[in-house]
Amino acid sequence: MNIGILGLGTVGGGVVNVLKKNREEIARRTGAKLQITHAAVRNVNQRRICSTEGITLTQEPFEVVNNDTIDVVLELIGGTTLAKDLVEVAIKNGKHVITANKALIATHGSELLALAKDNNTQLLFEAAVAGGIPILKSLEQGLSANRIEMVAGIINGTGNFILTEMRDKARDFDSVLKEAQKLGYAESDPTFDIEGIDAAHKLTILAAIAFGCELNFSQVSTQGISQVSSEDIAFATELGYSIKHLGIAKKEDGEIQMRVHPTLIPKRHLLANVDGVMNAVLVKGNALGSTLYYGAGAGDEATASAVIADVVDIIKDTASHDVLGWQSFESSTFKNQDDIESIFYLRLLASDKPSVLADITTILANYNISVEAVVQKQVDEQNNAHIAIITNVIKTRDINAAVEIIQSKDFIQEQIKIIHVETL
Ligand code: HSE
Repeated sequence: MNIGILGLGTVGGGVVNVLKKNREEIARRTGAKLQITHAAVRNVNQRRICSTEGITLTQEPFEVVNNDTIDVVLELIGGTTLAKDLVEVAIKNGKHVITANKALIATHGSELLALAKDNNTQLLFEAAVAGGIPILKSLEQGLSANRIEMVAGIINGTGNFILTEMRDKARDFDSVLKEAQKLGYAESDPTFDIEGIDAAHKLTILAAIAFGCELNFSQVSTQGISQVSSEDIAFATELGYSIKHLGIAKKEDGEIQMRVHPTLIPKRHLLANVDGVMNAVLVKGNALGSTLYYGAGAGDEATASAVIADVVDIIKDTASHDVLGWQSFESSTFKNQDDIESIFYLRLLASDKPSVLADITTILANYNISVEAVVQKQVDEQNNAHIAIITNVIKTRDINAAVEIIQSKDFIQEQIKIIHVETL
């Protein structure tokens, strides 16, 4: 099998290195000889993490997708413009395509999959979600007897690294982000990591595979971690929680909800203990119950592991995103964001006056919101009280309405923080 690679950066270089390192093992499993014959790179003279011996390098990527000797194209350049054109041409030329490009699949996946189906080729993207963790294959193959009820994951390593360092070492946000970028975890545009866009891309793909729905990135409600402060982390710890950036997809009563947001998780939950750059995905199936998949969500050889597993699927002809009836795109209803029910954490800064707490709880009570836990710190030098509240399970619409009224009170000194709490 002849393979052409688009992009010999971190992931492309990792693919070359893993194929070299595990050549015999992969041949034993597949009975096939995998050969990278061509690679398109931005600059043929650049230093890279892999040897390019035996690979024809070109700076013209269309040469690779138009090359008749190539059976499989690995799209590892990222982005949604040139990458999309290249994938389309490769598919139209009858080549199988494997990509690690979550943005491309989340935003154009439905049309590209239809194109692949029309051309009788495979378009696979295990590496696009949670790096090396074989989560799509687990959903499609190992869990195929289940109706999936929920998928909840820590699916952005950079965000998880930042929150972990802030919690454990009291470091500030910016310095941790810089370190993550240096370690090669962050996207080229770090706002994709911090603001949850990268996680939303991955969640779109997870939901599509889990529920058999179309890829619908625009339906993900997305909040980043830039609003999480050290004070929130300290309050969460005191209340028995850890703050994680979660992507959650649920299907209840035929309605799908997809959301990415910082989340307080009980400290003892397995997901709360997934730290640093590691990723993990919790899946609830209606036969098996909960299962958890943990591993490296980024990095050269870890991501290459998922890319090469897709090549192996093609060789063994086990690749098919039809296992869960996905390509017959069930039309789905997405839950109105205001109707989503959750426990919430509120953090307030209020002047220290009699009846402030009573006023806050009365307003909450008017929306049928009950206080499950509350912590108030010693009043500070500015005579302000720092308060954290955990509510019961309520609708997003109600917490937003109650908070809007509380916010308008003159005793409130700064923007009230609202963060989801999930017991999972
Ligand atoms: N920027 C991503 C992360 C890389 O931090 O998880 C893998 O998709």
